This record gives sequence, structure tokens and C-alpha cells, in this order.
Amino acid sequence: MLLPTRYFAIPSASSRLAALKPKYLTIIAIVLFFLITGSFIHIQNPDRIHSALQRLPGTDAYAKFATPAKLARNQTLGFQEIFYISLPFRTDRQDAISLLSSFTGIKSTMIEGVDGGSVHPKGKTIASNLNPGAFGCWRSHANIWRKVMDEDIETALIVEDDADWDVNIKDQLFRISQGVLSHTSLLDNQTAYTRKDAPYGTDWDLFFIGQCKSTPPKEKSKIGPVIAVEDPSILPLKKLESKHVSELKAYNITTSSTRAIARVHDTICTTAYAVSRRGAERLLYNWGYKDFGLGIDNEFSFGMNDGKIKGVVVAPPLIEQWKTGTGADSDIDAVAGAASGERLGSEGGSTRNIKNSARKAMKEWVKWQKKR
Ligand SMILES: *[C@@H]1O[C@H](CO)[C@@H](O)[C@H](O)[C@H]1NC(C)=O
Ligand SMILES: *[C@@H]1O[C@H](CO)[C@@H](O)[C@H](O)[C@H]1NC(C)=O
Ligand SMILES: *[C@@H]1O[C@H](CO)[C@@H](O)[C@H](O)[C@H]1NC(C)=O
Repeated sequence: MLLPTRYFAIPSASSRLAALKPKYLTIIAIVLFFLITGSFIHIQNPDRIHSALQRLPGTDAYAKFATPAKLARNQTLGFQEIFYISLPFRTDRQDAISLLSSFTGIKSTMIEGVDGGSVHPKGKTIASNLNPGAFGCWRSHANIWRKVMDEDIETALIVEDDADWDVNIKDQLFRISQGVLSHTSLLDNQTAYTRKDAPYGTDWDLFFIGQCKSTPPKEKSKIGPVIAVEDPSILPLKKLESKHVSELKAYNITTSSTRAIARVHDTICTTAYAVSRRGAERLLYNWGYKDFGLGIDNEFSFGMNDGKIKGVVVAPPLIEQWKTGTGADSDIDAVAGAASGERLGSEGGSTRNIKNSARKAMKEWVKWQKKR
């Protein structure tokens, strides 16, 4: 389990050190230097990077792409921005996302979600038959697509406020980045920006890393290229929910510790996906400028099937809904909030397909002195 650096114990022996002669201090400094750089080299060990790529074609490609892959580990996970959507009154969920981001070294910006029930009728001439929850959900996402265009953002990861992820999410995305960058089929139409700064390229409108489910086409020939990425931080196949196992099987992945990156055709939920700048334009044009009738995740699936938009999916997902209580806690299905008596605390929830849940790990991280 990787813990953020600031949780490594710092020896509080300054008074004893001060009593030592400078000669000893130099020796200690040299030893410390080797200890620290030694462990750094271990983390960046090229052999490990190589083994992560063993099932990928063209491992030589890695050297060329080293710089963008490293960005996958930065505070915004290699995207230009991370936005999370939260209705103003869900302070409980905002607290949880702040904690989760802080503990895992992530910088996320809250975007106020829209309460579909309070939208002016003039704003509802579009998607008029959606229920208030589904309408508010779409409008919240649409506001971010607009922001991406207005502020010239190249890529933004959009996350809903009930998300959970693995404590190793940065490593996971580093591997995903190596996978994408080593496989040119997902990297058509490169620009100067994508070559230098985009760890996942930008040849997609949507890049799903948090979906409830994605379903490959039944016809095998339509599945397209699949990149298999070794990942030790994934649950073994027998512990994953069957919907994810059958998806992997469709990609010919039948061994544990492997994630797939593929073109996506059909997804459910919008827990976490990235949008490119061009993607934001296509989304707002198709679902905003033009009228539509279904929940936005269903509309995405039709759009991907029709070729209106192009999506990539990471399966099984890296980000999953943290479920507390019952469906009444959902802001989409029950916008007014949970019925009284529902269990609403953030701590009591769970995620089914995440090996080392960061929300669960918080319990250990907050302890004053953790024995390790
Ligand atoms: C992380 O990398 C992306 C991609 O290059 C970049 O746009 C973003 O600004 C970086 N995030 C931070 C916090 O530096
Ligand atoms: C993207 O690349 C493909 C294949 O190289 C090409 O046919 C297509 O015109 C390009 N599209 C854009 C928008 O540049
Ligand atoms: C899976 O394997 C079968 C048989 O070798 C092959 O026909 C099919 O194209 C493969 N599917 C994928 C997604 O690689």
C-alpha cells in the first residue's frame, strides 16, 4: 500500500543529532542520501515498468513517451483539471471528497451540481421529459463541458461526489498511460499538446475510468483494439463482480491482475470520465444544443454506437460509487435527499471492485501513530 510521503515518520531526534559532531552529521547525511535515492530508484525501477508492459506490443515506444506517462502521477492524474460535481447541500459528500483527495495527493475542484427541480421552465425546453434528478444530472455535467470550452481546458476529469478510488490510483493510471502511449491505435491525430503533455493522448471525446458497467459489442469483429495492462493492484478475477469478469472475457482476458483499455460502445453511469476539449464541444452540441430524451449515460451509449462520439474505457474501472445506505441516498433518483432513518454517514459504505479502497484506508491514515 503506497501512502502519501508526508505520512512517513520523521525521526524526532533533533536534540540528539545536535549533540553529535559535524563529522558524524556528514556521515549520517551521506547514508540518508543513499537510503532516500535508493528507495526512489526502486520506485522508478525500469524493470518494473518493463514488466508492466510485457503484454504490450512495442515496449521500445516507452522511452519516447516517458515524459507524458510520468504526468499520470501528478496531482490532477495527468488531466489538466479534476472537477467534481456536488449539490450545494451535500456537504457530507464534499467533506468526503476533500478528505479522499487530500489523503491520496489529488487536487480536485468542486463544481456545484444543479437541482433539476429548481430550473426555470425556459431552461427546460431541452430534455423536457427527464425527471428532475436526471435533468439536474445532465445539466451539472453540461455546465462542466461548457467550462472546458470557455476556459480552453485540454482535458478534464469529471467525478461525481460519491466516488471512491484505490490508494494506488496514481500507479494505476501510470500503467494505463504506458498502455495507451505504447499502442498507437488509440493515438491517431496527435497534436503537439498530446505528444508532450497528454499521458492518455486526446484521440477521444470520453475516457471512462469510472463506469458501473460497460458492454462490448456482441459481434467480436466490432470490439476493435484492446490493450492489456498488467496491474497488481486489482482484485483477482474471482472477487470482481461478474459484469466486469464477462467484459474482460470478451476482451480475451482470462487471467487475474490485468486491466483492459478498449474503445467503448456502451456504458452505464457517469461516476468518472474525462472529456477532451473537442469532446466537450461534441457533447454540448449533441446533448444541449440539440434536444434529447434519455438519461445522459444512455445518450452517451447511443452516441458512441452511432459514431457521433468516440470513447475509450478502462476495465474494470478505477473509480467506483461508494454506496452508503440504500438508493434513497442517490441525488439523481431521489433529489430531495434520503428519507429519514437512512444511514447517511460517509464511513459506513463500501465499494465492490476496488482492492485497496482509499475511503477505507482513511481510517488508518488518520491514526496518530500507525505501527508499520
Ligand atoms: C498534470 O498534468 C497535466 C497534463 O500535462 C497538466 O495539464 C496538469 O496541469 C498537471 N497538473 C498539475 C497539478 O500540475
Ligand atoms: C485523424 O487521423 C485519421 C487517420 O490518420 C485521418 O483519416 C483523419 O482525417 C484525422 N482526423 C483529423 C480530425 O485530423
Ligand atoms: C479473442 O480471441 C479470438 C480467438 O483467438 C479472436 O478471434 C478475437 O479477435 C479475440 N478478441 C479480441 C478482442 O482480441
